[in-house]
Amino acid sequence: MNAPVVLMCPPRHFNVDYEINPWMRGHLNSVDTVRAARQWQQLHDTLARFAELRLVEARAGLPDMVFTANAGLVAGNIAIPSNFAHAERQGEREHFARWFANAGFNVVDMPHTGPDAIDFEGAGDALYATDEPLLWVGHGFRTDPRAVEWLRAQLNVEVIGLRLIDPHYYHLDTCFCPLIDGQLLWNPLAFDEASRAVIEARVPASRRIAVAGDDAASFACNAVNLGDAVVLNHISPALRDAIVRHGLQPVELALSEFMKSGGAAKCLTLRLDTGFAPWASERFAAHLARAA
Ligand code: ARG
Repeated sequence: MNAPVVLMCPPRHFNVDYEINPWMRGHLNSVDTVRAARQWQQLHDTLARFAELRLVEARAGLPDMVFTANAGLVAGNIAIPSNFAHAERQGEREHFARWFANAGFNVVDMPHTGPDAIDFEGAGDALYATDEPLLWVGHGFRTDPRAVEWLRAQLNVEVIGLRLIDPHYYHLDTCFCPLIDGQLLWNPLAFDEASRAVIEARVPASRRIAVAGDDAASFACNAVNLGDAVVLNHISPALRDAIVRHGLQPVELALSEFMKSGGAAKCLTLRLDTGFAPWASERFAAHLARAA
């Protein structure tokens, strides 16, 4: 089996330069850049034990580029760049799109200009299930519900939209993390009732690990699952035990500087191989052939 491939961006220009989520409030310019660099390097070196890592160059004036989960969504050899909801991040789009193209991906745009433009923040809001052809898509804050329809029409995977209701959990990956073998780490309170019911109907109770309180607020759901390792911010002993009982190994790291910006482990990564979702690429290739 090939090693997973993960994209990261060094925190060279990372800081809190503006406020576009509640976590950033009160943290303007307060990032300890030396500590941030150390925390990022620790995450990088930890992930390097389980995955092959790629890097995209950081750009001045785009402090949130470090959160590569928002570069776009990868489906096989297709990359769909994000259409950022906030002006502060829109400059990232061209850099990520160019990186995808240079890396050999077919870059496919979701409508991003004019009246048909659809906000979509990539793998921050779109997460594949691990055991079946299914893509969960969060909407309500950064991603427009029309992105759910667009993805459903383009990808040969089932697409389920989930409505996010708490501004602290503004991206799906802040409150929902599919784990190997169809297991799930999630914060039920981040979803509206209908979405919660959809998740509960789809993922059996025995496979769900609910996260609440301080663990939710320290972004325990913002985890990177590679093999049986679950790399994440510090968590409570109770949650650690629950993860172990589900057959997985928590690997905890300090990510406090990135929490000031409303991000943790998963936000700082983008999975580039969707080998676990090959169905996506086939259908998309057929779609592209038809379009040509
Ligand atoms: N400051 C960034 C923002 O608000 C953090 C992004 C976190 N990324 C993520 N995939 N949850 O956009």
